[in-house]
Amino acid sequence: MSPLLLLDEVGRDFGSPGALGSWLRRGLGHGERRIVRAVDEVTIAVGRQEVVGLVGESGCGKSTLGRIAAGLIAPSRGEVRVDGVAIAGLSAAVRRRSMLRVQMVFQSATASLNPRQTVREILLEPLRVHRLAPRAERDDRVADLMRRIGLHTGFLSRDPHQLSGGQCQRIGIARALTVAPDLVVCDEPVSALDVSIQAQILNLFQDLQESLKLSYLFISHDLSVVERVSDRVAVMYLGRIVEEAPVASLFGRPSHPYTVALLAAAPRLGAQRRVAAVVKGERPSPYNPPAGCHFHPRCPRAVELCRRVAPERREVAPGHWSACHLA
Ligand SMILES: Nc1ncnc2c1ncn2[C@@H]1O[C@H](COP(=O)(O)OP(=O)(O)OP(=O)(O)O)[C@@H](O)[C@H]1O
Ligand code: SF4
Ligand SMILES: [Mg+2]
Repeated sequence: MSPLLLLDEVGRDFGSPGALGSWLRRGLGHGERRIVRAVDEVTIAVGRQEVVGLVGESGCGKSTLGRIAAGLIAPSRGEVRVDGVAIAGLSAAVRRRSMLRVQMVFQSATASLNPRQTVREILLEPLRVHRLAPRAERDDRVADLMRRIGLHTGFLSRDPHQLSGGQCQRIGIARALTVAPDLVVCDEPVSALDVSIQAQILNLFQDLQESLKLSYLFISHDLSVVERVSDRVAVMYLGRIVEEAPVASLFGRPSHPYTVALLAAAPRLGAQRRVAAVVKGERPSPYNPPAGCHFHPRCPRAVELCRRVAPERREVAPGHWSACHLA
């Protein structure tokens, strides 16, 4: 059976200057075209009712991959498949319908909610725009969503600025759920919240996943968050997935030296892992990534081959993949 969502060898470049930009740059003595390969031929699947965590340092391409998954940007290369059907081959109307099945929740709900709309207008809008429910039923749908996200319907008449950060994020989640998606791409959905509120929102994500039988692509740079919510975890480095495994296998028996370094940089403190922040060595420029294995300048195990040849991914244990020459 095809997975719910498959990103098949997708890549995405940014920053290719137009002719004028290139000409100006050459005039200024900067000859090369500045292109960042934000996502570099990534293959990843999300199954029905599965939670796939995506971790990696800032700038490694997590949000770009998430936005491709949610249909907000097109890949420069590769294919997005929903239930085995390639999205690019569909007519615009069918594609829009298909991509409604994948919705996105952002880090800063406060910034993503229109300050001039009430909560009720925010939640009704997707139903209205996509003509998803008869007009008479829309208010019932919104009230049902409020119940599910744990807010009293009295909040419907409020503006976003009258809500706390946690309440805003609940509304951001409800807005994503109005169109009854199968998969939600969650991009750092608790990173901006206080730790006590984070736990409540993570509980909400878990409750909703069970009651609505949802799948998540759950992006976070916080290993403790990813370990808590995920069935499977993918680790990203400079645009590539370097390791992917069931959560217990990844945290218990990490294979890739980058994952090992991430976990070492984030020792267990009580029940919490610290945010994955400081892997030793300088992060290379994404505009000029190292040849071969991108991680070789920081890798304690690098050998000559690593400088020249990008490693293929290999299955090191059932369902556990690692892209390292030594795996
Ligand atoms: N619209 C854009 N235009 C140009 N470059 C971009 C654009 N979006 C992302 N990039 C670049 O692509 C790379 C990946 O960015 P992305 O936001 O996907 O990373 P991230 O892993 O989500 O980082 P963070 O953890 O900080 O959110 C970065 O080098 C970034 O500067
Ligand atoms: S391929 Fe080489 S440089 Fe890359 S992670 Fe493996 S050992 Fe390190
Ligand atoms: Mg991001």
